[in-house]
Amino acid sequence: MSICILGIESSCDDTSAAVLEDTRVLSNVIANQDVHRTFGGVVPELASRAHQQNIIPVVEVALHKAKITKNQLNAVAFTRGPGLLGSLLVGTSFSKAFAMGLGIPIIEVDHLKAHILSHFIKDKPDKETPSLPFLCLTVSGGHTQIVRVDSPSEMKVIGTTIDDAAGEAFDKAAKIMGLPYPGGPEIDKLAKSGNPGAFHFPESSMQGLNYSFSGLKTSFLYFLRDRLKEDGQFIEKHKADLSASIQQTIIRILMNKLKRAVRETGISEVAIAGGVSANSALRATLRQASDELGWKVYIPDFEYSTDNAAMIAMAGYFKYLDGDFASQDLTPYSKSRF
Ligand code: KG4
Ligand code: ZN
Repeated sequence: MSICILGIESSCDDTSAAVLEDTRVLSNVIANQDVHRTFGGVVPELASRAHQQNIIPVVEVALHKAKITKNQLNAVAFTRGPGLLGSLLVGTSFSKAFAMGLGIPIIEVDHLKAHILSHFIKDKPDKETPSLPFLCLTVSGGHTQIVRVDSPSEMKVIGTTIDDAAGEAFDKAAKIMGLPYPGGPEIDKLAKSGNPGAFHFPESSMQGLNYSFSGLKTSFLYFLRDRLKEDGQFIEKHKADLSASIQQTIIRILMNKLKRAVRETGISEVAIAGGVSANSALRATLRQASDELGWKVYIPDFEYSTDNAAMIAMAGYFKYLDGDFASQDLTPYSKSRF
């Protein structure tokens, strides 16, 4: 018998609902919140309000697209954390009430683990999924981690950022250049016509497999402040080169530790996950590593790189098989628990 799971994602500024039949995606609906663009970042209060407005319509569309009725669902999986508490509360409360009304179990999902498990979504019959164990570089707006995955329920963080996340480095650099939020995709676009060797920014050296990105942001800021003193139009004139150079630096930092992780663990099955895995240069660099270093790499489709509920339903499916259900009295958490 196949299992139908409704996934709900509301950890930040995307309201998403998806239906999976086992590992197959029947629907994956995402409502983005444009309201934050004006403010140059996510405003938590506005995010929760928008989730409140979007959640029911998004779920209705997801069920409609999946061509199933709510009575065919076996469970509701939702993001419990990490994320913005007010946003998480909307998805959590909705999921509890919806599941209770249907008399089906709820499954709590960790957002970061779900990004990793998105690699098991089989949206095409010939799609290859990672063999265990594998390493996953999770790079999002809030996190940067190298995770050793031994099974869907056994994961260990072997490297992490001690300050900013890679996505934050993209977003902050973009903000310094006056680009709209979120800056990552803007830098990606501009970098395509720029020279990645045009400017050099120092990389901070970190112990072991850990990362640090806050120094890079500061040196980028000071570099531009000095150049702007000489030429007020400096950013405008060099946007593409600046984008390509900062992007190249972030990718080099990410790749150096990832290469070290492969050497130290002897695991050469390598995946990337999280919003920054949508970056075209990072994807190309990983493909190149696959050719040059003999890694087997797994790069998620764009739809499953940034926040989406299909990955939540996917992670929920593994827990469903383990009979790992949540109780109605749980509350969300904002900080990462793994
Ligand atoms: O995983 P995600 O959608 O949300 C979080 O859980 O944080 O990641 C969002 C982050 C943002 O920092 C955004 O700028 C970055 O992913 N991002 C990108 C690209 N697309 C999204 N960064 C670089 N290049 C991109 N193409
Ligand atoms: Zn995310």
